[in-house]
Amino acid sequence: MSDEFTFKVLATDGKARRGEISMPRGTVRTPAFMPVGTGGTVKAMYMDQVRGVGADIILGNTYHLMLRPGAERVARLGGLHEFARWPWPILTDSGGFQVMSLSKLRKLNESGVTFRSHIDGAPYEMSPERSIEIQGLLDSDIQMQLDECVALPATEKEIARAMELSLRWAERCKTAFGEQPGRAMFGIVQGGDIPALRERSAGALKDMGLKGYAVGGLAVGEPQAVMLDMLDVTCPVLPQEKPRYLMGVGTPDDIIKSVARGIDMFDCVMPTRAGRHGLAYTRRGKVNLRNARHADDPRPLDEESDCPAARDYSRAYLHHLVKSGEALGSMLLTWNNLAYYQTLMADIRGSIEAGRFVERTGEIAQAWAEGDL
Ligand code: GUN
Repeated sequence: MSDEFTFKVLATDGKARRGEISMPRGTVRTPAFMPVGTGGTVKAMYMDQVRGVGADIILGNTYHLMLRPGAERVARLGGLHEFARWPWPILTDSGGFQVMSLSKLRKLNESGVTFRSHIDGAPYEMSPERSIEIQGLLDSDIQMQLDECVALPATEKEIARAMELSLRWAERCKTAFGEQPGRAMFGIVQGGDIPALRERSAGALKDMGLKGYAVGGLAVGEPQAVMLDMLDVTCPVLPQEKPRYLMGVGTPDDIIKSVARGIDMFDCVMPTRAGRHGLAYTRRGKVNLRNARHADDPRPLDEESDCPAARDYSRAYLHHLVKSGEALGSMLLTWNNLAYYQTLMADIRGSIEAGRFVERTGEIAQAWAEGDL
């Protein structure tokens, strides 16, 4: 732990980095996967379980929390860590992305975005300054700039406009954030699927001297190869000594291929959302527990796992819970999935330290390919 926000690269293997982000609320071992806790809860999980599977940091959403229960209320109740009973680091997304995907009647201009709540239609305004203010009220440790992410495919003109606007908003967020030694504000690289725009965005953000950099606007409908190409052009422009966060990604395969290109942090709803839909991630690939072939199967998901959800319950029982719509089905499968993701990250970190990242991730992918059963 540290009074200041710091990042250290402890080992590298090719472009893959094993690092440590330290801040007053704790240390984040990278490459890190951040479970998504949108509305102050990692859905279907106790915070003790989230910590227990090995998460060092979770993600919260400005958009959801400003609508309900409201940022000022969370602040009065002691901040998000106290409210949600998670005393370790929290990263909050700025709201721009969620406004675009969830809200109604949104209008965006230079000053910010106005929109109506997807919950009750109430009108809201969010500027870069208000986004940082809200993230401060939540007492977030890593705050994200307000940005505009365009869905792909989009025209070059549209991608360039949103990227340049995001750069101007990054400057305003940096000013609004000011000097806060124990916390960080990250910029977000945009630029769609256009290499020159990615380079321009990453270079301009680098010149702002921020404490960390996210890569946004990916996993928004483009093929994986395009996403990886964008990382290939973006990561070399970003400073070596700052953490790099790929937003909203991804599958275990996306994560391995992105670590190979120099990414340090990830978040994704996939393990939690899939868990609530009856899908389990395992060492031997995905298992759909809704499938009737599990109805009489006494075997656990993974007898070698440290996670009780993976090790101690039969597939037949999990199938029964999922088919019956029982809350425990969502709880056990989310627990299994987050445990799998965190084990994968620990495996990746260990392999970078040992200088066998390519070899080890090859073995991991081989086990998925061999499949279940
Ligand atoms: N989450 C996934 N992608 C993005 C993005 O481009 N911007 C923000 N703010 N959040 C994201």
